[in-house]
Amino acid sequence: MAGMTATVGSPIRPLQWRGSVDGHLELLDQTRLPTEVVRLACRDVETLWEAIRNLRVRGAPAIGCAAAYGVVLAFQPASRGSAADWLEAVERGCNRLAESRPTAVNLFWALDRMRRKAQSIRGTAAREAGEALMAEAHAIRDEDAAMCRAIGRNGAELIRDGMGVLTHCNAGALATSEYGTALALMYAAHERGRRFKVFADETRPLLQGARLTAWELQQAGIDVTLICDSMAAQVMREGRVQLVVVGADRIAANGDAANKIGTYGLAVIAKAHNVPMYVAAPRTTFDLATPAGAAIPIEQRAGDEISHGFGRQTGPHGIACYNPAFDVTPAELLAGIVTEHGIIRPVNRDMVGKMLSDKD
Ligand code: MRU
Repeated sequence: MAGMTATVGSPIRPLQWRGSVDGHLELLDQTRLPTEVVRLACRDVETLWEAIRNLRVRGAPAIGCAAAYGVVLAFQPASRGSAADWLEAVERGCNRLAESRPTAVNLFWALDRMRRKAQSIRGTAAREAGEALMAEAHAIRDEDAAMCRAIGRNGAELIRDGMGVLTHCNAGALATSEYGTALALMYAAHERGRRFKVFADETRPLLQGARLTAWELQQAGIDVTLICDSMAAQVMREGRVQLVVVGADRIAANGDAANKIGTYGLAVIAKAHNVPMYVAAPRTTFDLATPAGAAIPIEQRAGDEISHGFGRQTGPHGIACYNPAFDVTPAELLAGIVTEHGIIRPVNRDMVGKMLSDKD
C-alpha cells in the first residue's frame, strides 16, 4: 500500500461503521499516513482503546465519534444476554474507553451521551437496545459532520484573497468525522474560490502537521507549505501570515483553550506580530464545568516520542524527556473562537456563556 493516496475528490473520513449492530468500526490508521493508507478493523473495545491511546484515531471530535461507536462494540458480546447484562457491558465499555486519553473533552462528552441513552432505555430487550445505541452513535457522527460544515461557513469570511494562514497540528477532516474545524475554514474559503496560502507547522513530536495536515490539504488542492515549528516567528516577521487558525481539545468556560503542545507559543508569537489567532471548535469541545484553563488535565506522553523522534534514536541513550501533549492558550490571546453557532468575539466568560449556555 506504500505511496497510496486517498481517492481525490472523495471526502476523507477517519472512521466508518461497517454493517449493522453486529458490525465493526473501520479506522483510517493515522500513524501510517502520509506514506500508507491503511484501514484498521476494530471489533472490540480493547482494539479501539489501543487505537485511541496510540493515535491511530486522534483529534478531539474524531475521538468522541470513535468512542460512541466503541459503546456499540462494548454492547455486542451481551447482545444475547439479559437487559441487566447489556447495560453492565455498556457501562464497563464506557469506563474503559474513558481511560484512553485525558484531555479531549469530546471523548467524555460522547461517552456521557451514550451512557444517558443506555440509561433511558434500561430494561429493554438487548435487540432493541442495540438498535438504539447504534442510532445514537450514528447521530453523534452525523451531528459532528454538520457542526464542522457550519464552522466552515461561519469562519470562511476570515480568510480573504491573498492571505497567508498558519495552522498547527491537525484540526482537519482526519481529526473529526469529516471536513474538520480549523481546516473547515480553509475548505469553505477554497470552495468559495478564495486564493490563499497555508503554512502548516510540522508539530513536534508526533508530526501531525507534517503527516496529516499537509497531506489532507494537498489532497484538496489547497496551496500548503510545510514549516518546522521553530520557523513560525520568522515566517510572521517576513509578513507571510495574516491569520492563525487552530483547533482545540478542550475549551474552559472562560475561553482558555487546550490544544496540541506548541499552540500557546504560537499565540504569543502571533500577538507579538499583530496576527489574529482564532480557535475553531464545536460545542462538544467546550467544557463549561471547567472554569478556567488551569484545571484542564494535560496528557503526559512517553519520553521516547522525543528521544526517538524520526523512527530512530535522536537523543542520547537514557536522556530525561518531558512530554506534555497539550498546552493551554489563555483566552486573551485569542481574537475569536469559531463555533457552529457563530464566532465568539471577544473571548471571555460572558461571551462564551452568551453563545453556548443554552446549547447542549
Ligand atoms: O494528540 P492529537 O493528535 O489527538 O491532538 C489533536 C489536536 O491537538 C487537535 O488540534 C485538536 O484535537 C483539534 S481537532 C479538530
